[in-house]
Amino acid sequence: MKTVIISNRLPVKIIEENNEYTLIPSEGGLATGLGDVYKSGNSIWIGWPGIEVPDERQEEVTQKLAALNLYPVYLTQNEINLYYEGFSNEVLWPVFHYLVTYAHYEQSYWDCYQSVNDKFAKSAMQVLDRKDKIWIQDYQLLLLPGILREKLPNATIGFFQHIPFPSYEIFRLIPWREELLNGLIGADLIGFHTFDDVRHFISTATRLLPVNSSSNVLNSNERQIVVEAFPMGIDYDKFSGLTATEEVQKEINYFRAGKEDMKVILSIDRLDYSKGILERLKALELLLQHYPEYIGKIELFMIVVPSRDTVPKYSELRDQIDQFVGNLNARYRSMNWIPVNYFYRSFPIEVLSALYATADICLVTPMRDGMNLVSKEYVASRNNNDGVLILSEMAGASKELTDAIIVNPNNLGDIMEAIVTALKMPLAEQKLRMKAMRAIVEKFNVKHWVNNFILRLNEVKDSQKSLLTK
Ligand code: G6P
Repeated sequence: MKTVIISNRLPVKIIEENNEYTLIPSEGGLATGLGDVYKSGNSIWIGWPGIEVPDERQEEVTQKLAALNLYPVYLTQNEINLYYEGFSNEVLWPVFHYLVTYAHYEQSYWDCYQSVNDKFAKSAMQVLDRKDKIWIQDYQLLLLPGILREKLPNATIGFFQHIPFPSYEIFRLIPWREELLNGLIGADLIGFHTFDDVRHFISTATRLLPVNSSSNVLNSNERQIVVEAFPMGIDYDKFSGLTATEEVQKEINYFRAGKEDMKVILSIDRLDYSKGILERLKALELLLQHYPEYIGKIELFMIVVPSRDTVPKYSELRDQIDQFVGNLNARYRSMNWIPVNYFYRSFPIEVLSALYATADICLVTPMRDGMNLVSKEYVASRNNNDGVLILSEMAGASKELTDAIIVNPNNLGDIMEAIVTALKMPLAEQKLRMKAMRAIVEKFNVKHWVNNFILRLNEVKDSQKSLLTK
């Protein structure tokens, strides 16, 4: 019996250079969070390797991935356009992040979303044994639990959504809302990061489908579906341990050289309008206007990791960030200082670890975020217990990291004041807060998350079996 993880994207992606394929880690919370854990158990992972691979090269790629227990689902360019960029990222992503005016309800997107979910089911059927546990991840595959349930009525199916589940008033806007929910309730256990997501999902399902709920259980046609919150964690030991390595120490010395008195504010995100990147920049501008004494004394070190930049709203955002940063730097810079050190690229984990370990403040202000693992990675990297986390109340992580300075990301004045508070925070208070947050991140780590979900999935399945035999 094995666990079969299925997600849109594999934890590694293929890049092509000079006709050679190489595997590199994928970006984003799902891949970075689960990417290492699946290796430790008896599991395989099914998903898309990130680019279109021509038919004649697929065998070669399949072999490379098989060595890592990864099993590819190949998508054509048309499927990438309509299912991934289209339905997943121009309908579900904006609506689930409450940006309803960004959604494009195209019939062709929906048709392709259905056929690609079918395609994932067909791939899964090739590797599934009857007793396997199936664990489906995220919004790109909402129909998959239902499709697999039809094929394997007794299968053990878990589903976890890594992004928020919106309130009923938002979800009901989607033209294919019942179909999506019917797909989801093919699972035995449905997990979200927070209790609010659970609440929204249950209220949506009971209003739109012929199901009723008692507490966190949905009852539909003799099947019971359990819906629960499982706040995702990170690999605490990895981040905490990395900072002591020689390579990371070298990076730390390199960053800090000549900046001994500079306060560094760190910001790391995938390119995404849900992350509040522009708002963060505007808050910094406000701070430089209202507190000119900090000019030349603070620096925003901002990494934006390229993501989905073929989707128009993402490329527009990239242009807006370029423009804003250029303008702000041009107005405020001096001969030997710039307010924003901006990078549009990804970095190896050692560099990120060094930045986490050395930044005085980490500024995480998404407009809405399922969890946000960057905030937890920062905390895990603060082995001296110093540093200040500023965290949006719209991020799932704010429910756990209550010792951060919590801000409303729409309130630029609030972010500005939070930065000033962080800059002035006495070391003793920093340590008190950081210690408390580190204890939480250490205890509720990603292994705990995986074990907890799988344990509950087994329990839910067992209790269904005993109901049937009564
Ligand atoms: C978020 C989503 C993941 C997704 C990741 C990266 O974390 O929850 O499902 O994989 O972003 O986005 P991408 O579109 O590049 O897979």
